[in-house]
Amino acid sequence: MEANAPAKKRIFSGIQPSGELTLGSYMGAIKNWVSLQDEYNCLYCIVDMHAITVRQNPADLRRRSVNQLAQYIACGLDPAKNIMFIQSHVPQHAELSWVLGCYTQFGELSRMTQFKDKAAKHADNITAGLFTYPVLMAADILVYQADLVPVGQDQKQHVELCRDIAQRFNGVYGDTFTLPEPFIPKMGARVMSLGDPTSKMSKSDPDGCVYMMDKPEDIMCKFKRAVTDCDACVKFDKENKPGISNLLSIYCAATGKTVDEAEAAFAGQGYGIFKPAVAESVIELLRPIREEAERLTADKAYLESVYKDGAQKASYLAEKTLRKVYKKVGFVAR
Ligand code: TYM
Repeated sequence: MEANAPAKKRIFSGIQPSGELTLGSYMGAIKNWVSLQDEYNCLYCIVDMHAITVRQNPADLRRRSVNQLAQYIACGLDPAKNIMFIQSHVPQHAELSWVLGCYTQFGELSRMTQFKDKAAKHADNITAGLFTYPVLMAADILVYQADLVPVGQDQKQHVELCRDIAQRFNGVYGDTFTLPEPFIPKMGARVMSLGDPTSKMSKSDPDGCVYMMDKPEDIMCKFKRAVTDCDACVKFDKENKPGISNLLSIYCAATGKTVDEAEAAFAGQGYGIFKPAVAESVIELLRPIREEAERLTADKAYLESVYKDGAQKASYLAEKTLRKVYKKVGFVAR
């Protein structure tokens, strides 16, 4: 590096291994991660501690955590350029989370949309972990002094809360944390369910969801069944044509075309042509990723070397922040 070159800014983001990765997580987050890896110092995490805020099968969680790393790499994230690791391997996340929880209001956490949604879905198991989930997420980001957090639209509220917590802490103790900004893509920030285009595509809705590892024939079938409308005109109109607008967004995110270009390409053509064309664009996008991920998933020793190395590097960075914070709040040095 040149002596006077400005330091690269830092990025942190993560995905829960609470289910298989989806087209939503790819378009909302990972696609940006790949495009940012040269310009920034990036940490990309598999946030297994977040996943246990709802009940998980232990064997599945372990398998998905490692496979998720294979899928990150298959998407184009280079382990030589990025720090990739598993959250529970870096204990400083949990340690900082405790401190930050003491600077977070009950009322703030009660207003989080994801908490309200998940609490409604898991009404018989609303745990303290589910409630304080955004505090752990704030710790994930702040422990690395991240400048930017590339996420989908649904995580914006959590990043804003993270900023509020950081600002409050800085206000009491002086500059301690970098204030992070959310980084949300123009296309694909909120991929909707193929079965119900008024709700977000999510891992827990197999019919409306395209998984990154789905086979081409399954992807085709899911898009052919996608809910649309009956006026047979390919036009972007979120309010009146949510299904077609969602398919157009997916098509544009997959091909790099603008909405105008896509509308022009399908002008005068019915949904019988449009839907399989969207499916093909997604099949071609995901095919190389799936093939590479299958190859990498078989190489357990390689994946282990990546996540062990990642945890070591992440832990080194995280410890610096944690020591500073412990000192500021008045803990005796170890
Ligand atoms: P998670 O695991 O639900 O989703 C992972 C990422 O994918 C994005 N995403 C979507 N984007 C567009 N359309 C969709 N249908 C869609 N579904 C998911 C999410 O916005 C997210 O970027 N709390 C986070 C995980 C997390 C985290 C962090 C993220 C924990 N700590 C620190 C950033 C920084 C979550 O539940 O994401």
